[in-house]
Amino acid sequence: MNKPADLRLPATFVESDDCNPSANPSFDSVLKTRMDRRGLLRSSLGTAGGAVLGSLGLSACGGGSDDAVASTGTSTTTPSATSSAITSLDFAAVGKTLADTITVPAGYTASVLYRCGDPLVSSVAAAKNDGTDTDFDKRSGDCHDGIEYFGLNTAGTGPDASSSERGLLGMNHEYQNNLFLHANGPTGMYVAAVAATATTPAVPAVPPARPAAEVDKEVAVHGLSIVEVRRSGSAISYVQDSAFNRRITAATEMLMSGPAAGDALMKTKYSIDGSRTRGTQNNCGTGTTPWGTLLTCEENWIGYFTRASTDDTARGGATARSVVSLKRYGLSAGAASRYGWETGGTADLYARWNASQIGTSTDGTDDYRNIANTFGWNVEIDPYAPASTPRKRTAMGRFAHEAAAYLTPVAGKPLAFYMGDDSRGEYIYKFVSDAAWSTADAVPADRLATGDKYLNAGKLYVAKFNADGTGQWLLLDISVAAIKGYATYAFANQADVVVNARLAADAVGATKMDRPEWSTVNPATDDIYFTLTNNTNRVLTGTTYPLVDSANPRAYNDTKGTSTAQRGNVNGHIIRVSEDSREPAATTFKWDVYLFGAESTAAAAINLSGLTADQDFSSPDGMRFARSTGLAWIETDDGAYTDVTNCMLLAAVPGSRGDGAKTTVSNSLTSSAGVTSTLAVDTYIGKPPTATTLKRFLVGPAQAEVTGICETPDGKALFINIQHPGEDTTSLAGTFGSHWPDGGTARPRSATVVITKNDGGRIGS
Ligand code: FEO
Ligand code: CA
Ligand code: CA
Repeated sequence: MNKPADLRLPATFVESDDCNPSANPSFDSVLKTRMDRRGLLRSSLGTAGGAVLGSLGLSACGGGSDDAVASTGTSTTTPSATSSAITSLDFAAVGKTLADTITVPAGYTASVLYRCGDPLVSSVAAAKNDGTDTDFDKRSGDCHDGIEYFGLNTAGTGPDASSSERGLLGMNHEYQNNLFLHANGPTGMYVAAVAATATTPAVPAVPPARPAAEVDKEVAVHGLSIVEVRRSGSAISYVQDSAFNRRITAATEMLMSGPAAGDALMKTKYSIDGSRTRGTQNNCGTGTTPWGTLLTCEENWIGYFTRASTDDTARGGATARSVVSLKRYGLSAGAASRYGWETGGTADLYARWNASQIGTSTDGTDDYRNIANTFGWNVEIDPYAPASTPRKRTAMGRFAHEAAAYLTPVAGKPLAFYMGDDSRGEYIYKFVSDAAWSTADAVPADRLATGDKYLNAGKLYVAKFNADGTGQWLLLDISVAAIKGYATYAFANQADVVVNARLAADAVGATKMDRPEWSTVNPATDDIYFTLTNNTNRVLTGTTYPLVDSANPRAYNDTKGTSTAQRGNVNGHIIRVSEDSREPAATTFKWDVYLFGAESTAAAAINLSGLTADQDFSSPDGMRFARSTGLAWIETDDGAYTDVTNCMLLAAVPGSRGDGAKTTVSNSLTSSAGVTSTLAVDTYIGKPPTATTLKRFLVGPAQAEVTGICETPDGKALFINIQHPGEDTTSLAGTFGSHWPDGGTARPRSATVVITKNDGGRIGS
């Protein structure tokens, strides 16, 4: 995800919009400290080989009679650490390409597995993919994103973490491609991409209502799929009519759990005791737990709500606590909702998207003024229990979640989960459970009760990166003086702290990062990796210097196509952290930058990792260590290098944090006014990759993001998601930006792809 096209109003909402007005390090204090103490600011005036495989057909097995669902498992759900690591990549790197197909190395096959609209049950007709399909609560949703594999035992009665023959895929459907979802495109939706044309009507002051049928379809294409997959010979297909198959949508009931459950901030007309809410949407990254459940991470949920222009006044003015909170999360008074779902009718299912204070109650139990507080969480789902109610884990904090990765569990020690908040200048967080890990919980009788044990009580921390390569986890707790006495927002209790985790993180002085996307843990080293996808805000309008710090050290110029100027940290980087003493509860850590994204032809001061043409990438997003091989897989969601190549998947054999050296980044940045400034900043960079430790493995189809990644336990099948192919398409009458995966003149659609090696070996070997 994603571009702000097809919004109901122009550009009111962008994924990477920043709403962090705090003066936390990286904008002001770190820079000024550096300028004053080290005198590093200097300003001057100046001038500025692979096989191309088409998509393969989808084949769905019939439902088996052995699809009974059991609530208990028979073997461990905790995958073992790498047994046989791959230390040298010997496939032929794939070249950069703009081809509208999936390109993988010679010797590999990429097969389409599960496309938007594909039926989960045989009683629903095959998708026509012409905008007329309905019943999306029984079909694959749209915009596939994070994906996880859960092994099923042979009998199909419960978990078997070692099973590669039979498993469940749990995957997100992040958002929707409006244009292709409806026969003639969406009704009552302002298509921003058309705004520049002479025939575009003026944007109406009051947006038109959306038809209920369109809203209902759109709500249903959001959420997640749980879908069974089976291997037969070398083929893997999804299983129609599996008893495990399930759609969770933006209307599915969810249980609030943890410190914010039942708090005054959670009360709505739907749940007057604040215990429940309906739906999960804009689920981006995913994670798993050591007890075999799925964590789905709510990212840009805020844009689905609207607020009346008079709502600040209704709530008591600009300094009212709820107004401060809503603004910090990006929902200002007068904000239009992304898709106008609140206009679908008078029924409660539509009204709930209006976050305005319109009732007369004092506690919000007669309207949806508090609805936004019930989103922005990690949600735990038991993939093996289709009737179970998903639980929103509030102890893990509320922000624009990307992924959740846990440190290797150690018996007797707490669990630690690492999480990014994807917006420009937002933070990196850690949750540490109060409960100590018990290996008996790897195969629990009740998985969600085990989630209650580990995820409902614990400590939430936010990261501060120091210039000397060290860092601190700063506690977000109501007892912390900086939080208790925060002048900007008067926290009421710990529920308030987790609901307003961003404000609490502002209060303690966390470090603003270059859009934290996925997190992943190297099981061999316990290093934690965070992709920082890019940041155009490392350039502040009106200033003459690059806004950088040691952990986010680059701001530079790039050109897209022949003339489009790009500034800031254009291509992103991947930072990694190691906890002191490898302790999950550590409050101090060390960090370095594993890789800097860059074009291979960029200046050495930009291409700091020395990427070659076989390795260069931009905007890292998804990232996951494969437990079978130890390889790190890196995916991109890019808009900066897409004049040269579609988004991609790279394989890597990383070293470990600290295997490189301290280096000085010599930033040189020319502003739009033609003023060139330089700023040297020290950082710590990992050992540069070699030709056999980093290679491009796959390039996706046109105008698509490559996202989500998981594998079978034997490492012989890799699942990825292709999201929003052809996303730049502006009209059904024109030429589509992609026809993947169906080809011909078909509408493009998101899909899960499975990659296998033709000789049956492990992927990447
Ligand atoms: Fe949905 Fe930040 O990617
Ligand atoms: Ca470029
Ligand atoms: Ca993402």
